[in-house]
Amino acid sequence: MQRSVLSKVKPFIEETIVQLYCTTFPQRLTIADLGCSTGTNSLFIISELLKAISEVCQKLGRRSPPEFQLFLNDLPENDFNTVFKSTPNFYEKFRSDNGQEFGPIFVGGVPGSFYNRLFPTETLNFVHSSFGLHWLSQIPQGIENNKGNVYMARTSPSNVYQAYAEQFNRDFSVFSSLRSKEMMIGGCMVISIIGRRCSDPPSKDYCCHLEVFSKTLRDMVSEGLIEEVKLDSFNLPYYAPSIEEVQTIIESEGSFDLDWIKTFDNDWDTSEDYVNREFVHDKIKSGKFFAKTMRAVIEPIFVSHFGDSAIEDLFCRYAKDVGEILAKERPMITILVFGMTKN
Ligand SMILES: C[S@@+](CC[C@H](N)C(=O)[O-])C[C@H]1O[C@@H](n2cnc3c(N)ncnc32)[C@H](O)[C@@H]1O
Repeated sequence: MQRSVLSKVKPFIEETIVQLYCTTFPQRLTIADLGCSTGTNSLFIISELLKAISEVCQKLGRRSPPEFQLFLNDLPENDFNTVFKSTPNFYEKFRSDNGQEFGPIFVGGVPGSFYNRLFPTETLNFVHSSFGLHWLSQIPQGIENNKGNVYMARTSPSNVYQAYAEQFNRDFSVFSSLRSKEMMIGGCMVISIIGRRCSDPPSKDYCCHLEVFSKTLRDMVSEGLIEEVKLDSFNLPYYAPSIEEVQTIIESEGSFDLDWIKTFDNDWDTSEDYVNREFVHDKIKSGKFFAKTMRAVIEPIFVSHFGDSAIEDLFCRYAKDVGEILAKERPMITILVFGMTKN
């Protein structure tokens, strides 16, 4: 799912960094990827960014390409070792794609939350973050009445919507203010997050995949497989904002100018070929695909609250419930991508 989004977003990220480079042709470009995770995506976008700079250097006949300092950030629990073990291949591919004379590159890991300071003052030229910032710094407070739901849903009381929106507002403002200290003036940031198309929360596109997840859990409660009090006290620290919310927060925080913002709709099952169809052919396969994507993200949070005894059953049931929906309709996940410049 993330790779499919990154591929769509790539041209906009490349254009932003090439413009940034061509404005002052700095000797060194310092780039940070926040929420890099571990696995094949961790260095994917970084290598595409470097390729874009290499191409522009060749086109302009620049004899001295910049040095690159690349920082990979994620929470301290992230498996940085696996990322670091992939760096020899990354360096090798980089040289074969871009030539021996391009670079050098220096990769470093930065463990910590992006809701705290991560870098010294005015060190970064470019910041990228994808699929990380819809995760909040904490579960919003005062939403004990959101019973039977893991996120705000059409049946949630209105204070739940407000608490989620306020938490996102606080978190994204803090994030912007911290990054503005760490970035040089004129530095750029490109962020991709799950968002929503409409500003009205209780509409259909709101967060159907999590409503389905809540329904799967409620079914398990009714069969006595999960305790009701456990479900009632479980909420995800997650928020999918609208374009208007993002614009308003950037404007009122004030450290960055919003240069552009785009939305993409992504199928739940990115492995399916949907040409000329409105729903999937193989609901079992597609249900499993999406449940796996969700499990990769939600499992640690779920296990820390419920324990691990129900986890296999939960995601088998979730795959089935998702499959039933995909057999009838073609729901989308909306992605917001936006570029900002430090003013
Ligand atoms: C779904 S993964 C996205 C990985 C990769 N950026 C991509 O697009 O494929 C989200 C990552 O954000 C990280 N993350 C979530 N909250 C974070 C925080 N407060 N600070 C740093 N990383 C965070 C998670 O640990 C996870 O690795």
